[in-house]
Amino acid sequence: MSALNIIILAAGKGTRMYSDKPKVLHSLAGKPLVQHVLDCAVSLQPQQICTVYGHGGEAVPQAMQQYGAKFVIQEPQLGTGHAVQQAMHHLQDDSHTLILYGDVPLIQHSTLHQMLKAGEGLVVLTVNLEDPAGYGRIVRNQEGDVQRIVEQKDATPEELEITEVNTGIMLVQTAKLREWLGKLSNDNSQGEYYLTDIVAMAVEQGVAVHTVQPSKAWEVEGINNKIQLSSLERIWQKEIATKLLTQGVTLIDPERIDVRGELVCGRDVEIDVGCIFEGKVTLGDRVKVSAYSIIRNASIAQNTQIAPYSHIDSSEVGADCHIGPYARLRPGSKLHDHAHVGNFVEIKNSEIGQGSKANHLSYIGDSTVGSRVNIGAGTITCNYDGANKFRTIIEDDAFIGSDTQLVAPVTIRKGATIGAGSTITKDTPAGELTLSRSKQLTIAGWQRPVKGKK
Ligand code: UD1
Ligand code: MG
Repeated sequence: MSALNIIILAAGKGTRMYSDKPKVLHSLAGKPLVQHVLDCAVSLQPQQICTVYGHGGEAVPQAMQQYGAKFVIQEPQLGTGHAVQQAMHHLQDDSHTLILYGDVPLIQHSTLHQMLKAGEGLVVLTVNLEDPAGYGRIVRNQEGDVQRIVEQKDATPEELEITEVNTGIMLVQTAKLREWLGKLSNDNSQGEYYLTDIVAMAVEQGVAVHTVQPSKAWEVEGINNKIQLSSLERIWQKEIATKLLTQGVTLIDPERIDVRGELVCGRDVEIDVGCIFEGKVTLGDRVKVSAYSIIRNASIAQNTQIAPYSHIDSSEVGADCHIGPYARLRPGSKLHDHAHVGNFVEIKNSEIGQGSKANHLSYIGDSTVGSRVNIGAGTITCNYDGANKFRTIIEDDAFIGSDTQLVAPVTIRKGATIGAGSTITKDTPAGELTLSRSKQLTIAGWQRPVKGKK
């Protein structure tokens, strides 16, 4: 087959979304609708992709810059045929053109691949629907050959009985497409230029019309409102969950997991309910993620246990670590093997060495923590003077007593012990106890104040 072009129609206003955002920029599984379509389009390795967007939709090309796709505006919007026309000056005649829809996000590579293999001529992706209302119907002759597509609003009562409908997705030789688009008229009930009219033109010229059906009906579901968006989201999440279960991942409830990106799991991984995975997340063998944890762009090595309500963002966690409950790893955190990070501990842009522990109520920011360090409850690295950030270095085998403030820049040398309740502003020597704390004293005979009489 000659080179492939892809046109993505995305000019619809999306009135029924009741949103200031263009419809195709609403998210499904954490990714704009049109981006799903673009990713699928790219997977077919086309010569070029051209997206048609509508008035007020300038945010669409802005958001999708990274694709190197072309964007053309359709203004005013005079129908699907008119929309395709806007892209034609980008296309060379010696090619094929595949037409996709920005608001039909879950079309799959395998189905489009079927279309590319369907044979010379015009290929229409159709689907049989129990309730075909609203869709264009596929009209066939007695031999079963496609004759034309008739829109709901232009159909006779007999044609309305047809349950095979047009999904809108088509593959056509570019030269023919150009010729046929030039002949479209808007003499129909909606006064629009219907792309679907090219089917009858193909038949008239003896060009073969093939139909292909998607493997799953949800692939061709379009989105017009938030109800359809939420239902497609659940369908897609269920697909992802089924894939994970098939690979051997234990999901306590496949209805209660959300993957908004790519989740790669090793063997015997267990995920409890309510967890959200965003971006690229890798879980090693036997990792357990407990309920209501949120993990984004992170890798978690084998045997690590994540207790409930933990948040991990853009971080790397080694093997055999214990995290949470209620732990928060912010971007740039790296935990080496056997580290423990407990409840209400926040770690940011820091390295925690092998076997080190911060089990309770701490803030560790911009720090380098060595191996086998124990960070007592309530310890805080004071990394920020209101203008600049500074690093804290805690060397191997140090022991930081509870409720210590480490005022950066500061270094705690190997094996040093810091007495509880200290504010440390200067480097502390290796192997010694350092503390900064006022002496405890008792005031003999001191009396508590009493309320005065009114
Ligand atoms: C279209 C098809 C119909 C099919 C249905 C599938 C035509 C004439 N009809 O009908 O056979 O069953 O889709 O959902 O093609 N768009 C533009 N510019 C326009 C008009 C539409 O970009 O001027 C885009 C919309 O953003 C949308 C898509 O094209 O993504 C379909 O448009 P829509 O108005 O929903 O077409 P339907 O009437 O549903
Ligand atoms: Mg529609």
